[in-house]
Amino acid sequence: MKNTDDTLNGLFDFIKNSPTSFHAVANIRDILGKSGFTELSESEPWQIAPGGKYFVTRNGSALISFCVPESYEKAFMLCASHSDSPSFKIKENPERKEAGCVKLNVEKYGGMLIQPWFDRPLSVAGRIVFNDGGKIKEKLVCVDRDLLVIPNLAIHMNRDANEGHKVDVQKEIEPVLSLSEKTSLLSIISQQAGVPKEDILSHDLFLYARSEPTKWGAEEEFISAPRLDDLECAWASLQGFLLAEKPAAIPVYCLFDNEEVGSSTRQGADSTFLSDALERLSEKIGWSGEDYKIALSKSFMLSADNAHAVHPNYAEKADPINRPVLNGGIVIKYNAAQKYTSDAVTSAFFKMICKKAGVKYQIFTNNSNIAGGSTLGNISQNHVSVPCVDIGLAQWAMHSPYESAGAEDVESMIKAAKCFFEEEV
Ligand code: CO
Repeated sequence: MKNTDDTLNGLFDFIKNSPTSFHAVANIRDILGKSGFTELSESEPWQIAPGGKYFVTRNGSALISFCVPESYEKAFMLCASHSDSPSFKIKENPERKEAGCVKLNVEKYGGMLIQPWFDRPLSVAGRIVFNDGGKIKEKLVCVDRDLLVIPNLAIHMNRDANEGHKVDVQKEIEPVLSLSEKTSLLSIISQQAGVPKEDILSHDLFLYARSEPTKWGAEEEFISAPRLDDLECAWASLQGFLLAEKPAAIPVYCLFDNEEVGSSTRQGADSTFLSDALERLSEKIGWSGEDYKIALSKSFMLSADNAHAVHPNYAEKADPINRPVLNGGIVIKYNAAQKYTSDAVTSAFFKMICKKAGVKYQIFTNNSNIAGGSTLGNISQNHVSVPCVDIGLAQWAMHSPYESAGAEDVESMIKAAKCFFEEEV
């Protein structure tokens, strides 16, 4: 097992290089390729052999990877996280000129804390689709420099700024790009991508925060970075998946897109992506329809998405008893309304995994007066119904462009995920 510094550097590199869900999937595709995994395409027949390791992507922003051990129990050990984070999406024809500045017209992607997006270096990343000699092609782009800022209004012109300010997204969230009237975002993107501007047909481009991931605190016990929700779980559970030795069943790593906007897209948890992949895999390894159903009944899913730690300045917002802390180990989330899938049976199973892996776990429940959030576990159940537990790593400032978490918890997730993928069912 790597030491904490190596682990954090690995996570930080992944986050820095993954400004959007497209980049997160591209980076994981690279990692899997280097680890001997074969890429499958949804649009071509699959060749699957015992001992093989595979992955498939959808929309370039969701990914499913699995190994077929030489011998295995007929069951899937699934761990799912999400590739997207709240941001602002750049609208079509984005430039707007006002007061001598060129600004960009954007809209919300997901439910973010808006205020921290002000006064912070930002840039643009995503994908473009272009005409390549009559063929439609895609390319990822990332403008890797400080390109934009959304300036706040000075306190002198808004004396009530600290008394609670409702942000007018259309008016106030227009990041400033240039003082030069002729500047066009697409020209910058075209240059970055090496694709002539006139060939670019369309784009999915997002703002991203440029702030560097860092360790901090008296004993460097904290980490802060953009997109910890959910790239922290996505990366840590991938490490566990790669480290797993002699899995007893079929290990499956899932990364879904669009969790932040409800998951109901072709590449979200509320799609057929996972069921399509598992049905297809089971057919290729010679299972009958009944074998597949039996396998599902014996399978298990970890729904891994970050969790709220008790906040030192707002401790009253947490449950009076079940208050996760940073570096307190993996959080198991419960909700009577079943926004989290954990129940007595599935959480007991996961607690045993943590004990085996030698990692701490802690419990999250909402304060009973607060509705709380939701995630992909229960949504995925609509398509692949298997026993599931909702887990995550504790963090503060969820959905801020710069979030904070515990430096030690990342390794706990790696160890628990490894142990989970090796577990007998
Ligand atoms: Co999340």
